[in-house]
Amino acid sequence: MESDHTSFPKGFVWGAATSSYQVEGATSEDGRSEGIWDRFCKIPGAVRNGESGEVACDFFHRYPDDVRLMQELGVDAFRFSVSWPRILPDGRGRIEPRGLDFYDRLVDELLAAEIRPFLNLYHWDLPQTLEDEGGWPARATAEAFVELAEAVAARLGDRVRDWSTHNEPWCAAWLGYGLGVHAPGRKSRADAVAASHHLLLSHGWAVEAIRREARDPQVGVIIDAWPAYPASDDPADAAAARAVDAVRNRFFFEGALRGSYPEEALEVLAPIEPPVREGDMAALAPRLDWVGVNNYSRTLVRADPGGGEPLEVRAPEGRLTEMGWEVYPEALYELLTRVHREYAPAALYVTENGAAFGDVRSHDGRVRDPERTEYLADNLDGVARAIGEGVPVRGYFVWSLLDNFEWSLGYGRRFGLVYVDYPTLERVPKDSFFWYQGLIEANRPASR
Ligand code: FCB
Repeated sequence: MESDHTSFPKGFVWGAATSSYQVEGATSEDGRSEGIWDRFCKIPGAVRNGESGEVACDFFHRYPDDVRLMQELGVDAFRFSVSWPRILPDGRGRIEPRGLDFYDRLVDELLAAEIRPFLNLYHWDLPQTLEDEGGWPARATAEAFVELAEAVAARLGDRVRDWSTHNEPWCAAWLGYGLGVHAPGRKSRADAVAASHHLLLSHGWAVEAIRREARDPQVGVIIDAWPAYPASDDPADAAAARAVDAVRNRFFFEGALRGSYPEEALEVLAPIEPPVREGDMAALAPRLDWVGVNNYSRTLVRADPGGGEPLEVRAPEGRLTEMGWEVYPEALYELLTRVHREYAPAALYVTENGAAFGDVRSHDGRVRDPERTEYLADNLDGVARAIGEGVPVRGYFVWSLLDNFEWSLGYGRRFGLVYVDYPTLERVPKDSFFWYQGLIEANRPASR
């Protein structure tokens, strides 16, 4: 830990993040329909121990207490997502007012606590009806997404200023449709490529919809990127790393920020082509007020000696988090400086960064998680360095406020600043919570 962490610019936004399916629970309440994760969780073997988000953190009912916790933490902002099946149970058409009412109450609660709502429209919570009609590989899903953007922006656009369209389109497309490890669990490269294009296209359309419906919104998109490094100085590994970078990272940055797909990615994906229609590429990249980056680590790439897909390998040494992800804080710094250098968005936020460790509550009730604190502090060093070099990073969100449903790993990975005791749903702030609280406090202009 090099810097004293009190050097963040005035107005820097300190935050914490969650997503609808991972924390809300109440999956059949107030007219919510089935989502792709509800369905996926029922497939034997798809999710650890057959767990699901049915109860999750019960944030749907406990949000007032959780907003109190955010206040105690001292965050300026809270990043959350809306559940599409709550708002448009049929995917499109009929709006369920009770679904919107929930986010209305949440936003008011946040504003009363002087916490800025950062609202994300899509964090993988797709109505099953839309999946049944083809899901993201179908263009109709992108069209339906505009209805979601309109409904939410029309209802909350008088109070929510900070909007984002998608969270991590690579994961939604490739983990969900290409590799099959996330909902809906399809394993088709062609579906993943079509889904990637439709996610980006719907982003572009939704930006315009938000600007039509909301008052003076600041609109962005959230892209996950793992810098790809060659595993050795063998030129074949370098080429493999570039190929992974093109499909994993550049496809999404260039799509959303330049309205083009990198040649190198198209070559890797050939003969599959994104289903681009006339006018799409221009629609992909409207002006954005900000770009969010999510980052946890890097990836090391080795060429497959058999000529197959590049292999993503483990770092030979170096510490791993419980996810098996290498602790490599340099990645976030590199990502921020690279996005600034190559795409120069007006503003950047770190919209997710954090780590899972095997936290336990000790007999004295405390949860000691020094590794998480160290991880966050080291990553924030990189953020401070990037800012010092002129990168316009406006804020930072820890993933996550609460331990929550970690997708196919169920409740088996804890990312929270707050420990959740799942049988009782009791919240226990971890040591890292108090560290982050102190850091935010030390950066308050008044206390300098
Ligand atoms: C990101 C997701 C988030 C969470 C973290 C650990 O890819 O956006 O929901 O699962 O990883």
